[in-house]
Formats: sequence, structure tokens, C-alpha cells
Amino acid sequence: MANNHQKIIFSGAQPTGSLTLGNYIGAIQNWKALEQDYQCLYSIVDLHSLTVRQNPKEFRETCTSFLIQYLACGLDPEKNIIFFQSHVPQHTELAWILNCHTYMGELNRMTQFKEKSQRHKDNINAGLYTYPALQAADILLYQTNTVPVGEDQKQHLELCRDIAMRFNQAHGETFVVPEHHIPKVGARIMSLQEPDKKMSKSDENLNGTIFLMDSEDVILKKMKRAVTDSENRVVYSDEQPGIKNLITIYSTVANISIDEVVARYDGKGYGAFKKELAEVIIEALRPFKEKYDNYKNNMDYVETVYKRGAERAREIAEGTMKDVRSKVGLLPR
Ligand code: AMP
Ligand code: TRP
Repeated sequence: MANNHQKIIFSGAQPTGSLTLGNYIGAIQNWKALEQDYQCLYSIVDLHSLTVRQNPKEFRETCTSFLIQYLACGLDPEKNIIFFQSHVPQHTELAWILNCHTYMGELNRMTQFKEKSQRHKDNINAGLYTYPALQAADILLYQTNTVPVGEDQKQHLELCRDIAMRFNQAHGETFVVPEHHIPKVGARIMSLQEPDKKMSKSDENLNGTIFLMDSEDVILKKMKRAVTDSENRVVYSDEQPGIKNLITIYSTVANISIDEVVARYDGKGYGAFKKELAEVIIEALRPFKEKYDNYKNNMDYVETVYKRGAERAREIAEGTMKDVRSKVGLLPR
């Protein structure tokens, strides 16, 4: 349980696809640094993913695999509270109450809703529409101070703040109004195929993305195919975005400076550079893979991790819910 002085951080991630090298470098490495000074809660927001049709068997497997990938990245389940959103029923309970404090005009303006309903014209469901109220519940239940998410979630965060302030105004101080924190990413990792685009777990061109779960052969192949240019010189410049991205990856994964990478490959061509970069990545991911396999063979332990995570989360969430129920005039149970 958080002590009174510790600030609270909450972040949620949908269990879809598989974690990428971009997630690892841009987010998970930061999370590990945060666990020293904050009480961090990381929720795998499985209920949010139900806004899109899921195959139940595959979905269960993806959810488990996501949790194991986080653990294998080194997130400490003692220091952090890691849990599945659906295991803490207070999320949906608060979401309903917040729905009743959210205007349709506000939800109509959400760009993610507009985009997703464009993409899934056959399934524009009410869950997709009220998704931001559930997200606000995720955050407000824990009296969160800071939400570290990317730029694309800014609009949802703004709405969450508006809902919190509106509720506090109507019913008296109930929720901490959270701050959005766009993490200072060590680096923004770009697609290996289109270096002007972010490396993404949802990219249709799989060759553009390195997944943490990729095998050694696949990593080597993707590296060989990475888009570069005809200069054949390992130079860090905006004119050579492909090679620039590969240098950035090398530098962050090997933990050496950009200058050092450039000096190391002075006079050598792209072939040698790409092959050695693949080896550096494979080496860096080796402990991840070993841990992943270990956890996979230890599902009893994994189960205790997420059960304990949900227990700790429920305890905090119930504290907030008691207050909320009383503030809106529901009878005590
Ligand atoms: P997403 O995979 O888009 O849900 O993002 C999850 C987290 O990983 C967010 O904090 C992103 O900012 C971070 N992230 C995702 N892709 C990259 C990337 N290519 N480079 C750096 N950070 C990334
Ligand atoms: N909507 C977020 C995304 O698509 C995921 C999310 C759900 C979330 N609840 C959250 C992120 C709470 C931060 C805090 O990435």
C-alpha cells in the first residue's frame, strides 16, 4: 500500500499484439526508474480491449503473455502493483457513475472514437463510445497524481481531468486531479521500413517492427531488410533517417553514446553494421527471453502475482468507492 508521501502513478496498456523494442526503450525502461520514488500501478486494461471483438481463447493467451512480458522486462511485482483491470470490479462501477457525469458532446469530440469508428464501421458499439469514462475511472480510483502516456492519450487525459473537477465541484473534494506526463523518452524508435513513422505494435508491415518475442533469426532478417540509403556510411544525420534510427537503437540498446557508435563503424559499410546491431539486440533480449520462458513454466507463480496485484488494487479502489457512493447518495451496504 502506498505511504502517504508517495506520489501515485497509473498507466494502462491494452493487451493487443506483442511488446516492441519501441515500447521497451520508450516506456518500460522509464517505468523501472520510477518504481524507486513512486507507488506505480500498471493495469492490463482487458475490458477496454473488449470494445473490439476478441476470440476468447486467444484473448486469454494474449492477456497472460502480456503480463509475463512485463515481468520479463524486469518490472518488480512487489514494488509495483500489476493487475488485470477486470479483476477489480470497482473500475466498471466507477465508470458507470462517471458516465453520468460526462456529456455526449465531450465524447463526440474524442478523436480516438472518431478514428476507431471509421476503421470498424460494422461494430460502432456503445463501449467504444464511453471508453474514455472507463479510462477516467481507471485513473481516478487510485487518486493518481501522474499518468505517463504518449501524446495520443492527451485528449482522454484532459477529459479525465474535466470529469474529476466536475465531480469535485458537484459533490465536494473526492478525486485528485491527475497531471499528464509525457515521459522524456530516451529515444523515439522509428519503423525499420518507414523511418519517418513510429515503430508500432499495430503496424501491418511486420518487418518494420522488432518484437521482444522475435526469434534470433527473425531479428537478423528484419535488420538485414531495414531500409537505409545508398551512401553506405554510418553517419548520424537527418538526411539519412534510416541509418540514423539504427544508430539510435544501437546506442540505447548497447548503452553507449551516438558518437561512440559512429566512431566504431567509421569506414565500415551498412552490412557489417546491421549484422552487429542485430547481435547487440539479440544479446540484450537474451535475459528477457530466459525470464519469459521461466515464467511460462511457472504459471502458479504468475497467477499469484496477478491475484496479489488485484488484491492490493482492490483495497485502494474500495477506499475511493466508499467515498464516491456516499457522495452521490447511495445507501451504505
Ligand atoms: P503503445 O504501444 O502505442 O500503446 O505505447 C505504449 C508505450 O510505449 C507509450 O508510453 C509509448 O510512448 C511507448 N512507445 C511505443 N512505441 C514507441 C516507439 N516506437 N518509440 C518510443 N516509445 C514508444
Ligand atoms: N486508452 C489507453 C491506450 O489506448 C489505454 C488506457 C486505458 C490507459 N486506461 C488507461 C492509459 C489509464 C493510461 C491510464 O493506450
